[in-house]
Amino acid sequence: MSLTSLFVVQILLQSTIIVTSTCGSPTSAATVSNFTSILIFGDSTVDTGNNNFIDTVFKANHLPYGQDFPGHIPTGRFSNGKLIPDFVASVLGIKQTVPPSLDPNLSNDDLRTGVSFASAGSGYDEITTVVTGAIPVPKQLEHFKSYRANLSRIFGSNEAQNIIEKSLVIISAGTNDFGFNYYLLPTRKQQYNVGGFQDFLLKALQDLVQVTSKAFKPPITNFNSLPRL
Ligand SMILES: *[C@@H]1O[C@H](CO)[C@@H](O)[C@H](O)[C@H]1NC(C)=O
Ligand SMILES: *[C@@H]1O[C@H](CO)[C@@H](O)[C@H](O)[C@H]1NC(C)=O
Ligand SMILES: *[C@@H]1O[C@H](CO)[C@@H](O)[C@H](O)[C@H]1NC(C)=O
Repeated sequence: MSLTSLFVVQILLQSTIIVTSTCGSPTSAATVSNFTSILIFGDSTVDTGNNNFIDTVFKANHLPYGQDFPGHIPTGRFSNGKLIPDFVASVLGIKQTVPPSLDPNLSNDDLRTGVSFASAGSGYDEITTVVTGAIPVPKQLEHFKSYRANLSRIFGSNEAQNIIEKSLVIISAGTNDFGFNYYLLPTRKQQYNVGGFQDFLLKALQDLVQVTSKAFKPPITNFNSLPRL
């Protein structure tokens, strides 16, 4: 029996759900503690500093951001301290903080234990980032593919696959798709009513999970547990 399990934590419009796929075995403390890596996609709720490395006005590289972070330094997190991915990584015993994937100084161990691809001001819809200049979630997926290729180069393809399979995946986005896009720009509002746009975003999320799950085994199949917004 494959011992692989994959969690997707999805925080969309303040609703938090956890999708688990455990290949026949019930979720347990033992399952959770077997994650050896953490991979993050989404917006400012989970961006651990990527926006420091791109051209956007959405940067948290100044105080009071980071005033309660270890060392009291602004890291690019939109928080006075750590973010949820940092707490999750530390609770699971993976590491104390999750670095941004765009940091040019990441060690091999940083890469092995996972990174955040998230970008503050982003969303599932590429149009959302027209206003913010952030990295849209589909582009974050391209960065993930580059990360995976780098893992293979560094650790060999078998070990790279092993690292990916033992990763916890967190996806957190959606609010900016409304705040910076639907309610601000004409394009989507002309195409969709609110319910229609919600469906559009859920479809984008499904596409994301489908593509990422090809890298993971087994693929996530229990999408029925996603609530309607
Ligand atoms: C987690 O690791 C423990 C110890 O290596 C092992 O006994 C257990 O079967 C693993 N569980 C899963 C779901 O991989
Ligand atoms: C990366 O390391 C170099 C050399 O130590 C340093 O000058 C640079 O500031 C570091 N960059 C970041 C983003 O930490
Ligand atoms: C993969 O490695 C290349 C070459 O070192 C680097 O330019 C690129 O940013 C890396 N990609 C990721 C997602 O870390």
